[in-house]
Amino acid sequence: MGAEQQARVLVTGGAGFIGRRLVAALLKLGAGVTVADKQQPSQPGIRSVVGDLRDPSVAAQAVSPGTDVIVHLAAVTSVLRSLEDPVGTYQTNVDVTATLLELARTQGVGTFILASTNAVVGDVGQAVITEQHPTRPLTPYGGTKAAGEMLLSCYSAAYGIAGSALRFSNVYGPGMEAKDSFVPRLMRAARDGHGVQVYGDGTQIRDLVHVDDVVAGILLAWRTGYRGPLILGAGESVTVNDIILAARAVTGAPIPVETVPAKPGEMPAVIVDISAARALGYEPAHDLKSGLATVWPEFAPPAAADGKAAQ
Ligand SMILES: NC(=O)c1ccc[n+]([C@@H]2O[C@H](COP(=O)([O-])OP(=O)(O)OC[C@H]3O[C@@H](n4cnc5c(N)ncnc54)[C@H](O)[C@@H]3O)[C@@H](O)[C@H]2O)c1
Repeated sequence: MGAEQQARVLVTGGAGFIGRRLVAALLKLGAGVTVADKQQPSQPGIRSVVGDLRDPSVAAQAVSPGTDVIVHLAAVTSVLRSLEDPVGTYQTNVDVTATLLELARTQGVGTFILASTNAVVGDVGQAVITEQHPTRPLTPYGGTKAAGEMLLSCYSAAYGIAGSALRFSNVYGPGMEAKDSFVPRLMRAARDGHGVQVYGDGTQIRDLVHVDDVVAGILLAWRTGYRGPLILGAGESVTVNDIILAARAVTGAPIPVETVPAKPGEMPAVIVDISAARALGYEPAHDLKSGLATVWPEFAPPAAADGKAAQ
């Protein structure tokens, strides 16, 4: 699309897991991309601002004149870390969002897309989570994301910025080597001939969305000028046991399971309704098995990756 080829897009957190994939997609569209991140991004062909966005001069440098879109991914992303450091989490997840929104206002940036989470709604039991659920976050991570959504809402209403808060479910896909979530743990276990620990009986329900589907959702929110919260998930509820079975099928490894007591506060179910995103044209391209098959080659020993991957 012409507008996208001309567009200048700032991706905060662009050196991270989702950010790297988004930046690659934006470059493919022909957009001009700036990445602002604490880490040096590895992609060629971008403008890069390396620094901590809590420093206002780093944020000001990131939002250069002529920026059309900000996709704000940089955050404290770990629930555990947020519990250990609520103040630092507030500074990164709320203060930085406020600074960037103010820069968006003063620089005339038209679109602001915030990475959010279904953790903003808290524990809803077995209920299906929609955008209409009240926000009752249970952790500093969820609370600071909800606060970011509120700031975005008022900047959107008061200053005409097209602001969307995209609530991703559990994102997985290529580029997870540095992560410690369940999918990379399964992949490492398959590669190293180990097992995995499962909390409780493994019947907890989750929604695992592929990173490329999340990237497609971000681009869709931009193209449609969507305003407000929007859930981006797979729309496929799977149990932890289902994820293990799919990982065994994809890797061909036995991945034995060690059952350990459930952690306090672990959600029994995260079931999301993606019909609002679907109404905009969002359609996840990956199911769990095809998605896991895109992750395994980065972990697999070379022979296993070339040969029989999926059965
Ligand atoms: N991965 C998921 O399953 C998931 C689910 C829901 C929401 N999200 C949200 O999506 C966004 C991206 O997630 P991700 O998985 O790619 O995370 P990630 O940790 O891989 O990437 C985050 C990036 O932000 C950068 N960053 C963090 N604090 C910074 C600061 N103060 N200044 C500059 N850079 C900073 C980090 O260096 C990192 O490169 C986050 O906002 C996260 O909360 C992710």
